[in-house]
Amino acid sequence: MGLEGKVAVVTGGARGIGAAVARGLAERGARVVIADLDGAEEAARTLRDAGFEAAGLRVDVSSEADTAAMAAAAEDAFGGLDILVNNAGIYSSLTPKPFAEIDPAEWRRVMEVNTLGIFLCCRAALAPMTRRGGGRIVTISSGVAFKGNPFMAHYVASKGAVVSLTRALATELGPRGILVNSVAPGFTLSDGVLGNPTLVAGVKEPSLRNRVLARDMLPEDLVGAVCFFAGPDSAFITGQTLVVDGGAYYH
Ligand SMILES: NC(=O)c1ccc[n+]([C@@H]2O[C@H](COP(=O)([O-])OP(=O)(O)OC[C@H]3O[C@@H](n4cnc5c(N)ncnc54)[C@H](O)[C@@H]3O)[C@@H](O)[C@H]2O)c1
Repeated sequence: MGLEGKVAVVTGGARGIGAAVARGLAERGARVVIADLDGAEEAARTLRDAGFEAAGLRVDVSSEADTAAMAAAAEDAFGGLDILVNNAGIYSSLTPKPFAEIDPAEWRRVMEVNTLGIFLCCRAALAPMTRRGGGRIVTISSGVAFKGNPFMAHYVASKGAVVSLTRALATELGPRGILVNSVAPGFTLSDGVLGNPTLVAGVKEPSLRNRVLARDMLPEDLVGAVCFFAGPDSAFITGQTLVVDGGAYYH
């Protein structure tokens, strides 16, 4: 299965893409800590009920104290931390609008969760991963970072920052045996997206039309790529971003 004996933290793992990734990591043998603002313990219980080892913790990734507690919880519960999936992000709650109409407070919050959040989670994971002699960090960026989609300038900017941060951290952390890669999803029918009818109405059809593989993209479509970067088959790959979008954008 590839991830036996590994301990993984998935931020935003209670639903959507994060929940699918948490399950995929567990199915490959990892013990999983689900860190989420909401519903973490319920999601962990669902995994435990299915026979996996999992723990849940309420974490706001933009909080220094919460992210420190998250790393400590992985070590307390499962004895270490090997894999960090930085999936938590603000997207599905956003209403598309021209950039000039974006409230600066909304801009700050998007950046705080989508970029500062990853910085804090990686920083918290550094000592535990170093104690294990290395680790894997997977960030979830987005295809929009390459395409420059309109009407979500703050979100697009934040995901561009995730791609660049992935490269910078890969360079800094490679010597410590910590590999850092990113998965860039296309428009995915996650729980959050399905709960925002305006987003679905505006983005679903155009996304389908622009895809070589002309079907809806689901959270499960991302599991293989994330688990690849978390596991032994990617042992000589770092700093990369893999676009997973059914062939909408060739990176
Ligand atoms: N769905 C898409 O089309 C799509 C496309 C490209 C990239 N992404 C990225 O994938 C990731 C997951 O998206 P999704 O569509 O599954 O989202 P979702 O809304 O379905 O789930 C997001 C989860 O993150 C949690 N979360 C939000 N803010 C948090 C915070 N501050 N701290 C901890 N947890 C927090 C939420 O509680 C929720 O459980 C995001 O980073 C998003 O930007 C999504």
